[in-house]
Amino acid sequence: MTMTKLVDSYERKIDYLRISVTDRCNLRCVYCMPPEGIDLTEAGNILRYEEFHRIARIAAAHGVSKIRITGGEPLVRKGIIEFLASLAEIPGIEDLSLTTNGVLLKDYAQRLKDAGLKRVNVSLDSLQRERFQKMTRGDNLQDVLDGLDEAEKAGLTPVKINMVVIKGFNDDEVLDFALMSKTKPYHIRFIEYMPFNTQEGWQRDKCLTMKELKSIIEDRLGPLEPIKDSKGGAGPARRYRWKDAPGEIGFISPVSEDFCGSCNRLRLTSDGKLRVCLFSDSEIDIRKALRDGSNDEEIERLLFKAVAEKPERHHINENIFKKCSRTMSLIGG
Ligand code: GTP
Ligand code: 5AD
Ligand code: SF4
Repeated sequence: MTMTKLVDSYERKIDYLRISVTDRCNLRCVYCMPPEGIDLTEAGNILRYEEFHRIARIAAAHGVSKIRITGGEPLVRKGIIEFLASLAEIPGIEDLSLTTNGVLLKDYAQRLKDAGLKRVNVSLDSLQRERFQKMTRGDNLQDVLDGLDEAEKAGLTPVKINMVVIKGFNDDEVLDFALMSKTKPYHIRFIEYMPFNTQEGWQRDKCLTMKELKSIIEDRLGPLEPIKDSKGGAGPARRYRWKDAPGEIGFISPVSEDFCGSCNRLRLTSDGKLRVCLFSDSEIDIRKALRDGSNDEEIERLLFKAVAEKPERHHINENIFKKCSRTMSLIGG
């Protein structure tokens, strides 16, 4: 194998791999899935853990140092703890994290930590029981809140909370979420609602922009201080805090101020496709190579091919934009 690093056509260094380990989920968030769920991929077409591990190992040999596990809901897949432990042992993997809806987190937190997971990002869009139920079609708010506590106790820190803000649906809770950063060490991240292939459909006027959100928050709760290292490899969030607050506030603004210029990521779907951009349906099949006896050089070639095909940016704001054919639960965010 060569030791060349993964760098795309726009000089972006690709060091972050997001692996969606399952398309299954124990919730049915309105912006993500239709009420009846989606057609699940046949079990045989979902990659086995050894297959994910092989790709991760080869990617790590080419500069990937950050792995995030997503779903669907990753904690519903059997064997996830052992899988995480196996990833934690790959040389070069410095940051191993997981994005979860938090429903099962309470029971898993300590075992996740013991397996070598560093931290968790938890999706939570409402702190009101009925609203949570309406948003996720599940009655699990208390489970998620308990999960957050347990994650913090287990040291899966910083615990990040992802709130997708939808105008007319949960935007009246923005201040409640922001306030949590004053009492808890959580990173509260407000995410602009992005256009995806869902039954409800996305409308621009349902998306609150980072500027709007920031002024709603600062008008009521006082000026935020920017956190210095918020650019670069730090991820998509623009970060802020209040003086003396244990937690912080972040804005993820793919719609109004994209962060494509510093994109460092590649995605692997549960059915074995390398997805070059969250918003591009252009995918590279790696499952076939994994299953036809291809050697590591061939897997490596496919990784480089995917990176070479990364587009410069998404086109959400242009007329040519076409919503993706996959739902979010099939990509993992
Ligand atoms: P950190 O390493 O903790 O910063 O993780 P993260 O923010 O990259 O991951 P997370 O899974 O928590 O994603 C948070 C939100 O950012 C989700 O709504 C994702 O869909 C969105 N997001 C993550 N990566 C991208 C990306 O490459 N492009 C766009 N447009 N959105 C992204
Ligand atoms: N817009 C913004 N964020 C979304 N997520 C799912 N669908 C959307 C959307 N349409 C978020 C989830 C989770 C992350 C992986 O992606 O809430 O936090
Ligand atoms: Fe499940 Fe996450 Fe989709 Fe909600 S957003 S249905 S928790 S995969």
